[in-house]
Amino acid sequence: MIPYGKQEITQQDIDAVVDVLKSDFLTQGPQVPAFEEALRAHTGATYSLAVNSATSALHIACLALGLGKGDKLWTTPVTFVASANCGLYCGADVDFVDIDPQTYNMSIDALEEKLIHAKSINALPKVVVPVHLCGQACDMKAIYALSKEYGFKIIEDASHAIGGRYLDKPIGNCEYSDITVFSFHPVKIVTTAEGGAVMTNSQDLADKMALYRSHGITRDQAQMQNESHGGWYYEQIDLGYNYRMTELQAALGVAQMTRLNDFVSARHKLATRYNQLLSTLPVILPYQLEGTYSGLHLYVIRLQLDKITKTHKEVFDALRELGIGVNLHYIPVHTQPYYQSMGFKVGDFPESERYYQEAISLPMFHVMTEEQQDTVIRVLSNVLES
Ligand SMILES: Cc1ncc(COP(=O)(O)O)c(C=O)c1O
Repeated sequence: MIPYGKQEITQQDIDAVVDVLKSDFLTQGPQVPAFEEALRAHTGATYSLAVNSATSALHIACLALGLGKGDKLWTTPVTFVASANCGLYCGADVDFVDIDPQTYNMSIDALEEKLIHAKSINALPKVVVPVHLCGQACDMKAIYALSKEYGFKIIEDASHAIGGRYLDKPIGNCEYSDITVFSFHPVKIVTTAEGGAVMTNSQDLADKMALYRSHGITRDQAQMQNESHGGWYYEQIDLGYNYRMTELQAALGVAQMTRLNDFVSARHKLATRYNQLLSTLPVILPYQLEGTYSGLHLYVIRLQLDKITKTHKEVFDALRELGIGVNLHYIPVHTQPYYQSMGFKVGDFPESERYYQEAISLPMFHVMTEEQQDTVIRVLSNVLES
């Protein structure tokens, strides 16, 4: 089976992890700060905190922005459930903004329309989470302008997007957001096995997220309420979690970050080839929004169902049966039973639901060979034409 995504682990990565195993620190040593420094150097953001998943990263980002009971978080339905669940963890209400039919990212028109209505009923969101689906940035300048007009905070869910650029600057620099989140799950662009990070330019938010990452505990006298009792002393000043990344994961991340640009260029070569070789098939190819350079975590096509005889499911199943490990990103979150039990219904976000009926993620990973890609294209052509 040719998978839809796959990590690359080199001898450099293995040596880096083995070195940590032989060292004094398996956790809370020098590798986590080194990984955070690599993320800062790449993105240009002032602060970076590595955590054990993007899910944890989203949670502490919401907490740092003060999201709580009675507040509202909005995100896109076409995302992994974690982009929405983080709001629920904080006791907030979650709602969705339908997608743009071309980029599949949050629609700016739909966002503006929903904001106008929310203002009229005094129900504006506290936090909006735009998701850079497949690695392509949302129209962040437009979302930022709306945030100033309507007074919400922005968490960029860039789980798919490290190595991508927006208006010629690295995604993660937080120029148009309060916080950006990355994921380092193995199918993503850079991996630490499990792992995530938050980036921000605000010292206040960074300090808060550092507390939430580690039990709400501080060793910084300036943050303490009492005089230190001695060298062992720490204070818990808030309720936090254990969301720390290990040294093993961070060492892998440091090694992987040295190859990030190569990873993304390899993905672009594959995407360009897909774009050329699939151009005559009855599928809609990914659209590139002006001013964006995608990290290309995913390569999603949409079937033109009126031009083929098979159904979406038949095409998907045939590809899997023939060894092509296609996938579907994502089942719209509002249609999940858990969200339906909160009152969301099929029909609430029609563009997202239409996308779901047509989308297929083709294999895309930076160590994919041209032979593997040719196999994907040949099998897809046969399936669509038979
Ligand atoms: C858009 C998006 N957000 C958040 C996450 C959660 O990432 P993690 O698995 O690192 O918790 C994922 C993971 O697939 C994702 O795709």
